[in-house]
Amino acid sequence: MPVKRKRSSRQKRKDFSAYDLHKLLHELQVHSEEITAQNEQLIKAQRELELARDRYADLYDFAPIGYVSLDVRGNIADINRAGAALLGRPRQYLLDLPFARTITAADYPAFRKYLALNRSEGGVGVVEVQPRAEPRRTIKLMSRSVVLSAGDNRLLVAMIDSTDARRIEAEREEALRREQERAAELGVEIAARRESEARVKALLNRLVTAQEEERRRIARNLHDHLGQQLTALRLTIDALKQERLSKEDSAKRLDLIDRLASQIDRDVDLLAWDLRPAELDDAGLTAAIETLLRQWAVAQNITADFHVSAPDALRVSRDRESHLYRIVQEALHNVGKHASARKVSVMIECRDDDLTVIVEDDGRGFRVDEPHTGSGMGLISMQERAALIGGRIDWESAPGQGTTVFVRIPAKALES
Ligand SMILES: Nc1ncnc2c1ncn2[C@@H]1O[C@H](COP(=O)(O)OP(=O)(O)OP(=O)(O)O)[C@@H](O)[C@H]1O
Ligand SMILES: [Mg+2]
Repeated sequence: MPVKRKRSSRQKRKDFSAYDLHKLLHELQVHSEEITAQNEQLIKAQRELELARDRYADLYDFAPIGYVSLDVRGNIADINRAGAALLGRPRQYLLDLPFARTITAADYPAFRKYLALNRSEGGVGVVEVQPRAEPRRTIKLMSRSVVLSAGDNRLLVAMIDSTDARRIEAEREEALRREQERAAELGVEIAARRESEARVKALLNRLVTAQEEERRRIARNLHDHLGQQLTALRLTIDALKQERLSKEDSAKRLDLIDRLASQIDRDVDLLAWDLRPAELDDAGLTAAIETLLRQWAVAQNITADFHVSAPDALRVSRDRESHLYRIVQEALHNVGKHASARKVSVMIECRDDDLTVIVEDDGRGFRVDEPHTGSGMGLISMQERAALIGGRIDWESAPGQGTTVFVRIPAKALES
């Protein structure tokens, strides 16, 4: 049997004819060509892949915004040039470094929270951090979580420089805050102006009323005193003309006429003095004030002192004299009305050509800083008169400390 089998295999080899060999060779050749074509395709595909990878690398590297990929521990697995520039460190230095080490400590909690959120939910989180490197900038991190292979999660993070946006936002907020502040200030100013306008209006009303009052008083005086006296005078003269009187009666009537005329003379003087003290014109400011003080002190039974340290030739314009006189008059009036003082001093000083008039009492005093809500006009009219003649007026007073009124007129205001 083995001999038979040997024979059969030889037979087979004999049957593998030249034709078969040829066919086999041909098939081999076809395969080889197919493999070569496939190989060429593979090489081409590989080249395209390499090109695509290079293009991607270029895009990644030269992208205008920063990209960083973080591994599961938050270490920097890769970072492009813009990203490294934003962190202010060389790229090689940054690789494998925990990202947290590149930002300020104040931003750690927010950054950790952001990492945890992105890992657990894989969502798009946003956080703003400041890199440690100077100059300080603000970077907005926006991320996407990807799985590269089992267990290798990466967080792809885009880094956008939001410093300018932040600055503009901060400037806008600051401008808004300033505007709101200014609006509030303006509101206060407007309220204060309205209040002072209302005060001026009320003052003007009171001034007009006071003026009317003054006119009525003068008219009453004219009517009650001069009018009556003139009527009496006229009647007496008429009677003297018409009646046949004895010499003795005529002398009596003439005497009455004389007394009436003298009385009228005195009253006219008084009225004129009320309007403008004649002494101001005759003897000047200091003498007129001295007379006023002396007469007032006698009437009030108060001790009065008068000091002048001003040149005799001190002349102040008529207008100013009159205002200064009225200021002193009102100051004395207030002492009599409110102070219960024992002593009053009036001083007129001229230093460096500035004129100062001081009225001082040792009475009960008052709180200067408290607004006077009463209907009193004295202090206001003194203030107005001082301002009208280019000067200023100040009160120094406190309860139980007496009162001193200072009126100061600068030299240049006196000259004009
Ligand atoms: N020398 C003073 N001593 C004490 N209190 C004074 C003195 N001068 C002014 N005062 C206080 O200041 C207030 C205001 O004075 P002001 O002259 O403006 O009003 P008035 O004297 O009350 O009224 P008016 O002057 O219109 O007659 C007075 O009511 C008084 O309380
Ligand atoms: Mg007064």
